[in-house]
Amino acid sequence: MPVISFASPKGGAGKTTAALLLATELAHTRKDFAVTLIDCDPRQWSVKWGQGGQVPENMTIIPKPSEKDILDEITKAKSKTPFVIVDLEGTNSTLVAFAISRSDLVVIPTQAGPMEGESAGDAIKLVKLQEQAFERKIPFAVLMTRMSAVIRSKIEKDLTAQMESASVPVFTTQLLERNAFKSIYAYQCPLWALPKSTYKLEDAKQNARAFAGEVIAMFVKKKSETPMKEEIVA
Ligand SMILES: Nc1ncnc2c1ncn2[C@@H]1O[C@H](COP(=O)(O)OP(=O)(O)OP(=O)(O)O)[C@@H](O)[C@H]1O
Ligand SMILES: [Mg+2]
Repeated sequence: MPVISFASPKGGAGKTTAALLLATELAHTRKDFAVTLIDCDPRQWSVKWGQGGQVPENMTIIPKPSEKDILDEITKAKSKTPFVIVDLEGTNSTLVAFAISRSDLVVIPTQAGPMEGESAGDAIKLVKLQEQAFERKIPFAVLMTRMSAVIRSKIEKDLTAQMESASVPVFTTQLLERNAFKSIYAYQCPLWALPKSTYKLEDAKQNARAFAGEVIAMFVKKKSETPMKEEIVA
């Protein structure tokens, strides 16, 4: 059962937004894609979001555990739901290192910029260090966030080229700068429950779905002998 962490030491990189979008999209995609979101952001945005009373039935939000409890919380969550998402704090703490050590995928959100690129690099170094410490592969991928729907800046092109030449895995989907992605916090509801008048809502939904689709494709494999059945593999 996959544990998917969102990590970057850069404050405001887009971890919480991407984690909540993925959690709600998974829950919305299929009833059996139940998901636990462990909210390790010190500001507890996902917990506050959940207080709006519009958490999908198959989604559970766990408030920030202590450093000594994080591993137990992840184990407990894994026994209850097929997907576990951990939204990490924007620092390189012991809690972050522990969560990464238990992850089947570390998503590293980053905006396009030199400082942002360097922070993504720091997150990758931490993943590599945990791989070394625990002698196991920890898959990771960079997620470009808050991207413009119309302009591809030179900074973005340079960062993408840099990551490509370093063979850093990058999600094909980029999360665009969308008002709807902010509005889910204002309205304390998932994307699909936002007012229809929300600017470019359908585009935002499609964007979030594409990101979730990429993650699902990493873990949900068709069983070859029974083509209609699928299984979730970590
Ligand atoms: N794709 C997006 N479109 C529009 N706004 C976004 C998007 N992603 C993030 N934001 C906004 O950027 C700000 C920072 O995002 P977020 O809280 O997700 O980052 P974070 O990495 O979790 O930050 P922290 O390190 O403080 O936990 C928030 O105001 C959020 O609403
Ligand atoms: Mg956050």
